[in-house]
Amino acid sequence: MALIAPSILSADFARLGDQVAEAAAAGADWIHVDVMDGRFVPNITMGMVVVEALSKVTDLPLDVHLMILEPERYVERFAAAGASLITVHAEATPHVHRTLQLIRSCGVKAGLAVNPATPLDWFEDLWGDLDLALLMTVNPGFGGQRFIERSRQRLERLRKSRDAANPNALIEVDGGVSPGNAADLVKLGADVLVAGSAIFNSRGSIASNLAALRHAVEG
Ligand code: DX5
Ligand code: ZN
Repeated sequence: MALIAPSILSADFARLGDQVAEAAAAGADWIHVDVMDGRFVPNITMGMVVVEALSKVTDLPLDVHLMILEPERYVERFAAAGASLITVHAEATPHVHRTLQLIRSCGVKAGLAVNPATPLDWFEDLWGDLDLALLMTVNPGFGGQRFIERSRQRLERLRKSRDAANPNALIEVDGGVSPGNAADLVKLGADVLVAGSAIFNSRGSIASNLAALRHAVEG
């Protein structure tokens, strides 16, 4: 059964605690927190204080996606703030292996993310050192972008590589996930679906949007 991780990037920030509680009540598995620095990606979002505040109001695992340069400088602080998983980008740190080890040494699950143009070879020698492989299916930086169709083939390849090397690592897809492609993505290999604008939008309630995504995947 695939896990669903609502991305609060598309939530109403003035009512963040309530929105997360609503997502939790509706059956969200994780809460995905997009941290952006205005350098690795063009956008700036939130940092440790938001993770810390959320850890006080939800029991759900906080899945922290660091879209920042030199993420190793902040790993300990995000761990202390209450992150359950910390994912760094292969393109953003000179010492990926060391950074993954640092994350695990903080007692947090370690994730590695790659942008749409980054070779999947990155994962080959690192499967044993990570708990989560995050495949970006849009270019990172903004919610509500169109899913990059080419990602389907990448996901299939990533799944084969993962199954052979470390079946315990989870594969997460992030960007443009909707009820229209969710079932396919799970079939192609995704264990965790991140969804921002498909869950937090003005078209439906958080509960109904989450139910639609769950229904698309599970029938
Ligand atoms: C994009 C972020 C995503 C974003 C996904 O850089 O990493 O987590 O919130 O948003 P949607 O689901 O709207 O594409
Ligand atoms: Zn994300």
